[in-house]
Parts: sequence; C-alpha cells; structure tokens
Amino acid sequence: MDTPSTDPAAPAVAAPNHLPEIPGDRSANPFWGGRFARGPAEVMERINTSIDVDSRLYAEDLAGSRAHCRMLVVAGILSREDGDSILRGLDVIEAEIREGRFDFRRDREDIHFNVEARLTELIGPAAGRLHTARSRNDQVATDFKLWVRTALDRLALKLSALQAELVAQAAAHADTVMPGFTHLQTAQPVTFGHHMLAYVEMAERDRSRVLDARARLNECPLGSAALAGTSFPIDRDATARELGFDRPTANSLDAVADRDFALEYLSVGSILAMHLSRLAEEIVIWCSSPFRFVTLTDAFTTGSSIMPQKRNPDAAELVRAKVGRIVGSFNSLLLVMKGLPLAYSKDMQEDKPPTFEAADSLELALDAMIGMVADMTPNKPALRAAAGGGFSTATDLADWLVIHINMPFRQAHHVAGRAVKLAEDRGVGLEDLTLSDLQAVEPKVTAEALKVLSVDFSVASRTSYGGTAPSRVREQVARWQAVLAARGRDLQAVGAGA
Ligand code: ARG
Repeated sequence: MDTPSTDPAAPAVAAPNHLPEIPGDRSANPFWGGRFARGPAEVMERINTSIDVDSRLYAEDLAGSRAHCRMLVVAGILSREDGDSILRGLDVIEAEIREGRFDFRRDREDIHFNVEARLTELIGPAAGRLHTARSRNDQVATDFKLWVRTALDRLALKLSALQAELVAQAAAHADTVMPGFTHLQTAQPVTFGHHMLAYVEMAERDRSRVLDARARLNECPLGSAALAGTSFPIDRDATARELGFDRPTANSLDAVADRDFALEYLSVGSILAMHLSRLAEEIVIWCSSPFRFVTLTDAFTTGSSIMPQKRNPDAAELVRAKVGRIVGSFNSLLLVMKGLPLAYSKDMQEDKPPTFEAADSLELALDAMIGMVADMTPNKPALRAAAGGGFSTATDLADWLVIHINMPFRQAHHVAGRAVKLAEDRGVGLEDLTLSDLQAVEPKVTAEALKVLSVDFSVASRTSYGGTAPSRVREQVARWQAVLAARGRDLQAVGAGA
C-alpha cells in the first residue's frame, strides 16, 4: 500500500517542474536533452522512433495519464488547477486524434512523448508536471497491458460467437452421418454434429486460456516509475482501480521488465490459430470436388480467372495460413525477451509490432471462420455415401461377435477382417454382404448381425458419454445452448456485446 492519499482539497506539495524547459539548442531532445549538445543522427531517429506503431496505444495512454493525473491531485502532489488544465488538455488531444487532426511526429519518438509534447503546446509548462512520479517505462507497460487486456476480451467474445455457429450446425446435423477419419483414412461413421462439437470443445479451452491469461495480466504497473518505484506519496491502488486492474503490481522491477502477458496472449493465440487452421483445412478438403462434403456460398469462395468451373475456398486457405504469422509473432517476441537483463531495455519496444500483427491476423481469421461455419451447408447424400465407404462398420461387426457369440475381441477383429476382404474382392460394401456370405466366414453369425453393418445403426450405438450417437450429440447441443445463452445474458448484464 502506498502512503494514504491526503485531502484532495489540500494545497499541492510543491513539486519541481519535472520537464526541463526546452533547451537553447532546439535540436536536442526537449524531454531528455538537458545534457545533450545536439540532436540524434537521422538514422538514430529512424531506429528509435516507434510512433508509427504505438500511436495505436493512444486511448490506453490517455486513460493511464488521466488516472495518474487524478491520483497526483488527490495525493496532493499536483495542484487541482494544474490537474484540471492537464485533464482538459488531454481531452483536446483525444479529440484531435479521433478526428484525425493530431500531428503524430517521428521526432517525438513515441506515443508518450507525442502526447506530452502536444500537451505542452496546449497548456504550457504545467504539462511537465504530469510526468511526476512516473516514467515511460511504467507508462508503456500499463498502456500495453490495457491494450492486450482488451484484445483478450475481444477474443473471448469472438470465441463464443464461433461456438454459437458451430452449435447451430451441430443442432441441425445431430444425425447427419459422415465418415470419421484417422490417418485421413475412413475409420468409423460419426455425425456431422459431433464433428462440429469437437471444435466447440477446443474453442472452449481456448476461451478458458484467454480468461486465465487475462486474470494473470490484471495487475497495474503504473507507479513503478523507471524501475525502482518513486519517493512521491502516490496511491497505486487508486490508479489500479481507475484503470480496472485488480491490484497494483508488487515489484517495480518486474512490472517494467516483463512482457509475459503479451507472450501469453501470443501463445494462447497460437494455439487458437492452430485450432482454426485445422478446421480450415477440413473445410478445404470437404469443399474439394472428390469430397463434396460441404458447400460454401459465393460469399466465401472465389472463382478462377482461367478455369470457369472453379469455386475456391480462399478464406479457409487464408485462415489455415494465418497461424504462420501468429506463431511467428510469438517466436519473435519470445526471442526479443530472451536473455534481457532487468529492468527495461529498449529492445522491449519491439514487443508491439508482433503483438499487433498477431492480433489483427487472429481476429480476422476468427471473423472469417465464424462467417464460414455459418455459411457452409453439409451435403447429406455425399456424406452418407462416404460414411458407408471404406468398410467403416467393420468394428461394429467385430463388436457384434464379441457381444452375441462371446468371441474374444482379437479373434472377432480377425473374422471381421475376413468379411472386409470378401467384400473388397467382390467390389461391394460390407452392408452388401448376405447372411450366407458372413456365415461362410463365421458359421455362428445370425441375421441379427446384418443390422449392425448399417451406418445409422453404427452411429446410434455409440452412446458412451462423449460418443457420436445422435442422442448424445443432442444432449451436448442442449448443454452448449444453455451455456452460451447464460453467457450471452451475462454479457448483456455487463453491457458487453449484444
Ligand atoms: N517507446 C518505448 C517502448 O515502447 C517507451 C518506453 C521507453 N522508455 C525508455 N526509457 N526509453 O518501449
């Protein structure tokens, strides 16, 4: 806990004007150029500047500055008069940025200096008091955390939206049979609804990773100053609260030095993007003409400039590819951070490009996937025909032998294998074999066994918890519909998302 705040109405502690007057030689940096005789080399300015990237943090930067300013006033470190003029100046800056009138300047390095320099132009030397008990190091850590927190919140919402579309498909296709694959070889029949729900489960774990990361992130670095904390009697709880953090960070060195919150965002995002790429790949396969398992409308396909018959699933292919950028961004930041001594190093300015890039790709990929899942129509006849292909009910025959004539499973597997061989030699499916065909393989087989060779029987029998039986799929659909409806109500209650 910081020293308790003093009475807000009390006169301000006389604080030194933190920002030196603009030095005589205008080419030296007005923020830190006190001991510098001249300005930076052109290439130094180019490598050092980050405004082209971090102007994206402007809203978070202004929020952090407002919270800091109010706290300084309440703590008696800044006079109410100066505090008010700073807050008014920040409002003007916000309007300028929103209306595209703000002059972002590379010679003013980053978002923090751009805001402060403009504030100085607007309100004069009082602007220099805003940086009391603060450094760009705790400022940027705070801004960036706020940004990543909002990005995590957007991911959670989009994941729920994706789940809603997947569950809608599952509800419509709880008993649409399709082949299930292992090794991309026909394995056993499953239902399309069951397949959709597999992705709902993955998305739910992604969402829970998002929520975990958010909870861990939510400590406020502001007030850690450059690295050691500050001698001013600040109230870190107040700024943390105003910015929606659960508490202030407990170690000033850690607070300015780590970017693990961004790494977590990127790792969670990488796993999520990997999941999206798998569904994307399946959509690509399913849309291909040998499969024809699903169709996407004109809204999510493109034509070929040379082959008139083509309908290409470009959006799915691009979602499949985006994982490259996202995992690349994760690697990029991980390598930037590796081996950095405490506390802040300028290396860390390289945290934002990969994070922003990954966020843009990830959100676009999610939006495209939400759209595609809603858009796609399973082709029931093709799915049914393929479901019965590849002798997909061979396991059902083996199971029947175990259950009805008490054959050991290994032996049953062998008998069913011989039935497959017979069907294969004749060029027919298992369900096309007659009773006498089966009895030629195993004399104890009865007419009852023929039933289990149908695809519908096969899926209906998979009633174990988590199995593909339409009854189980409907149960899970109902569970997910209830979960998502409750989530929607919670979101409405807090006013987030419609
Ligand atoms: N633009 C910098 C960044 O993004 C802000 C912090 C700079 N701090 C410093 N001491 N040079 O990391």
